[in-house]
Amino acid sequence: MKLLITGGAGYIGSHTIIDILENTDHEVVSVDNFSNSEPASYDRIEQITGQKVRHYDIDLTDYKRLKEELFEVESAFDGIIHFAALKAVGESVEKPVMYYHNNLNSQINLLKCIEKYDIPAFIFSSSCTVYGEAETLPVTEETPVSKTESPYGYTKLAGEKILEDFSKTKDNFRAISLRYFNPVGAHMSGKNGELPKGRPNNLVPVVTQFASGWLDALAVHGDDYETRDGTAIRDYIHVSDIAHAHVLAMEYIVAQKQEAVYDVYNLGVGKGVTVLEVIKAFEASTGKKLDYTIGPRRAGDIEAIYADNSKVRNRLGWEPRLTIEDAMSSAWRWQEHLNASRDYGKARP
Ligand code: UD1
Repeated sequence: MKLLITGGAGYIGSHTIIDILENTDHEVVSVDNFSNSEPASYDRIEQITGQKVRHYDIDLTDYKRLKEELFEVESAFDGIIHFAALKAVGESVEKPVMYYHNNLNSQINLLKCIEKYDIPAFIFSSSCTVYGEAETLPVTEETPVSKTESPYGYTKLAGEKILEDFSKTKDNFRAISLRYFNPVGAHMSGKNGELPKGRPNNLVPVVTQFASGWLDALAVHGDDYETRDGTAIRDYIHVSDIAHAHVLAMEYIVAQKQEAVYDVYNLGVGKGVTVLEVIKAFEASTGKKLDYTIGPRRAGDIEAIYADNSKVRNRLGWEPRLTIEDAMSSAWRWQEHLNASRDYGKARP
């Protein structure tokens, strides 16, 4: 297969390219405008896999460039895995138009190209944020959606709907939305991982940057939730396990195993873990003690969510291979890799 990976220099995109190059014979082309990543990401992929990735620096909202400089240059793709999107929840509340413009127009332009160049398969990065605060846990794919809190969440919800509607109109086309829970960790070599621009918001980069002195505080956002230790519960899933699910999903639809033209899958480990348990897992797997503080709840946070993942297990044959300890130790190896690099030292928040 020849696959187009959008956002291939980003966190999940780069790990997916690594999985494809390490485990399959599929050909990969990436498109990324480095809005939250950097060209060095491709060098890291090459260091790990020994293979160069052909890549384009194009903003997907620019249909003319996308069409003329990518789709007309490359021969036909067998499928597209679409990661490229803005994803900071708080920023989306402050800049909703930027989020709707970027995330929706990028996807719509890709669908236009799918129509024009007759591409048969599409995988969309969705999020458990579409469930909002669910009444019953774990959430299944049948749990009602649409109570999402942020413009970011609405771009995922709308993206799913656009894809579903599009799928019904096109012959010989199959699509999947994967609803990620909380992606964490780094490639087990420690040579590729998450590199958010500026100060991170997500828990694990905050933990690793705090542990190495880049940040001066680690605040637990609220310990008065109705959970076993008072802190919020999430389903943390190793990024390499997320990456592998895309390969399985693409092979599944290209082999025409999916009857429905469009389907959604939860992608989580199926286990709820509290913030304090994440911190303990980090301490246990790295031997580093975290001197955290307890702060107030973070606006917009929900109390608890975790996945029922039986559908992705049963249909795609996916299962999580790595643990939360693997996620913490690999995230730490990646952080140490960054610490050792002078250039990243300068980029510290
Ligand atoms: C959010 C989004 C999710 C998105 C993910 C990755 C929602 C509901 N969730 O997940 O869709 O895929 O970001 O971008 O919109 N925490 C602390 N201290 C910190 C940082 C985080 O205690 O310094 C806590 C949070 O309050 C939360 C947990 O850690 O309880 C996880 O937070 P985070 O990593 O930011 O992910 P979510 O908010 O769950």
